[in-house]
Amino acid sequence: MEEVTATAVAEQVGESCSLDHYLMQPDHTMDARIAAARAKLGTDVLLLGHHYQRDEVIRFADFTGDSYKLSKAAAEAKAKYLLFCGVHFMAETADLLSQPWQQVILPDLNAGCSMADMAEIGQVEDCWDSFERAGLLGENDQGAGNSAKGIIPLTYMNSAAAIKAFCGERGGLVCTSSNARGAFEWAFKRAERILFLPDQHLGRNTAFAMGLQAGEMAVWDPFQINGGLTPEKMRAAKVILWKGHCSVHQRFLPEHVDRVRREEPGMQVIVHPECRWEVCRKADTVGSTERIIKTIEAAPEGTSFAVGTEIHLVNRLAKRFAPLGKRVITLDDSGCLCTTMYRISPQHLAWALENLAEGRVVNRIKVDDEVKQWARVALDRMLEIV
Ligand code: 13P
Ligand code: SF4
Repeated sequence: MEEVTATAVAEQVGESCSLDHYLMQPDHTMDARIAAARAKLGTDVLLLGHHYQRDEVIRFADFTGDSYKLSKAAAEAKAKYLLFCGVHFMAETADLLSQPWQQVILPDLNAGCSMADMAEIGQVEDCWDSFERAGLLGENDQGAGNSAKGIIPLTYMNSAAAIKAFCGERGGLVCTSSNARGAFEWAFKRAERILFLPDQHLGRNTAFAMGLQAGEMAVWDPFQINGGLTPEKMRAAKVILWKGHCSVHQRFLPEHVDRVRREEPGMQVIVHPECRWEVCRKADTVGSTERIIKTIEAAPEGTSFAVGTEIHLVNRLAKRFAPLGKRVITLDDSGCLCTTMYRISPQHLAWALENLAEGRVVNRIKVDDEVKQWARVALDRMLEIV
């Protein structure tokens, strides 16, 4: 049994075929093998694919979507095996939402998320202790329960299961980029303040969109004593933003939008809410990967878009919409690649599927039962609000 995180384990069942053997083969030789293994497994396996996956992988997905759509698909899936072409927190979420008789597989255990790694449970517990010392916690905030009055912890889906459990246990919930506003509204009906983990940009963009002012937000830096905040600053904030970010989306800058405006008049700028606020405020549309796709789908022929999100999705959209008379380019042509999403290769996919077809489960992602209980509560609250 190989340890993956404090809360999840990867189980190797039986003796698996060597992955090294697969990694020495060229991509295209995997296609027929993937198709054959899938045919053998039939409806026992469901392949879920995030939009940032590479073309050679995503074309095998039964279901594609953003984080929210994929979590719903996992919750409703009937297959025995859910094979997740995405990153670790997504596979953990699928395990949290699946039935006890289902198993979740991540073809490469190195497919993590640098943003999710920016909030560790020990750091979050220390942060909460500081809130307690500053008098931010209401009567019911310290343990389990739904009736917190002081501050509610809210986490982006892009976080470890232990962080989701932390939020669930303290009356909070999970959100994705497509329902962050609904989650903020839910939380503000129940508490004076929100702690938002781990993406400061999504938190800030959501708070500004709701009409909050910069002075009502504070950034918690987990590497500074008391997050770098005085008790007065903590008390003055309505939203406390964890200092985390997506290294892919943070690369987009306001000057990229300015350049498009200058060089491509009439072009629509559409960005993901993991981008900085300085970029989002200059964009025409801000939305999750699913919203980006839907916006371009709905646009009339002749429309052109500069898109601020991961390069595989942008390239796929450019190819798909060119014959329909719509032009799609990346907002920053230095190429914003999510290297961990990219780790799911056709070789890893073939390896996981062929082992499965031979009755061996490789790279199972399984969240510890004690973490599962509260993380599930936080996810169920999210699924109820949208
Ligand atoms: P969505 O697919 O939910 O828009 O999220 C993007 C992302 O960064 C996933 O890691
Ligand atoms: Fe994580 Fe950013 Fe990659 Fe999404 S795009 S998986 S947030 S590093």
